[in-house]
Amino acid sequence: MINVSNLRKTFDTIEALKGISFNIQQGECYGLLGPNGAGKTTTISIMSTLLEPNEGKVSIAGYDLKKNPLECKKNIGVVTQEIALYNELSAYDNLQFWGGLYNVPKLELKARIDELLNLFGLLERKNDKVKTYSGGMKRRINIASALLHMPNVLFMDEPTVGIDPQSRNLIFEVVEKLHKEGMTIIYTTHYMEEAERLCNRIGIIDDGIIVAQGTLDELKTSGSMKETVVISFTNLTEKRFTKISNDWNDHQRFDDTIHFFSKNIQGDLSKIILKCNEVGLDILHIDIRKITLETIFLSLTGKHLRDK
Ligand SMILES: Nc1ncnc2c1ncn2[C@@H]1O[C@H](COP(=O)(O)OP(=O)(O)OP(=O)(O)O)[C@@H](O)[C@H]1O
Ligand SMILES: [Mg+2]
Repeated sequence: MINVSNLRKTFDTIEALKGISFNIQQGECYGLLGPNGAGKTTTISIMSTLLEPNEGKVSIAGYDLKKNPLECKKNIGVVTQEIALYNELSAYDNLQFWGGLYNVPKLELKARIDELLNLFGLLERKNDKVKTYSGGMKRRINIASALLHMPNVLFMDEPTVGIDPQSRNLIFEVVEKLHKEGMTIIYTTHYMEEAERLCNRIGIIDDGIIVAQGTLDELKTSGSMKETVVISFTNLTEKRFTKISNDWNDHQRFDDTIHFFSKNIQGDLSKIILKCNEVGLDILHIDIRKITLETIFLSLTGKHLRDK
């Protein structure tokens, strides 16, 4: 359904995308998971023809994006990261405006708007100006506007950032419903919980490249690590850390804490503690963490998905 091949994009001196490739089958919900500045919006913007890449190809529903942008656009609905709505217009009038842009026939459009307002729980507020809406309500209208022309493919760029839990849950439910009904979805987020809940396949993106991709199970079993032993120390000096580093390859340091990644936690835990004792480290706290998208991301990039 969607084919993205070797996308590169540079803004002045910033290399935002360094060769992004992925394929998405019809009916998949594909999650693009990565931290701020990873290149998620740039990728989505190129795929929705808002930006031109320096290199690379995109095809959607069999059409080449460069040669047939109009055919591609007919197939896609885009929920941009920045909400674009007219505050002085009602929700209904906003949707009517967007429906006109998407060339939805007038008669169909009226029924479609009511159907979507109902789906997003805003039918009763449809005549109120958007400026009286909460952030979460605006976001719901913003998503509805991308669905007016019944696209086969939906791009959603961080649709739940900064909104209330009630709106977030409703958005989750709508995404799950659309996915169940067979819509192909690309969902970008920096929340691993969202990618885990909604997406059947996930691409982990960092600094303009996809560092790993697969189903959640594939991602969990493909890495070198199974679990993480997180140990905080009271006296972690550079010298002691160097000694530990020499003995344990797969680890990351954060201030007074070291994350040790291990395939065999049963066997390795006592070895790790023994090493710490040997180099004179005083242990403050030990935490054993199951493998999650966060630990996968951490071990691949040395960074947290979100600033803590
Ligand atoms: N119009 C632009 N001009 C200059 N640099 C840009 C522009 N758009 C994006 N960038 C840079 O490209 C990189 C990727 O940005 P992008 O917006 O794609 O990241 P993102 O993954 O969407 O991040 P976020 O989670 O914060 O939305 C960043 O370093 C960003 O500063
Ligand atoms: Mg973004």
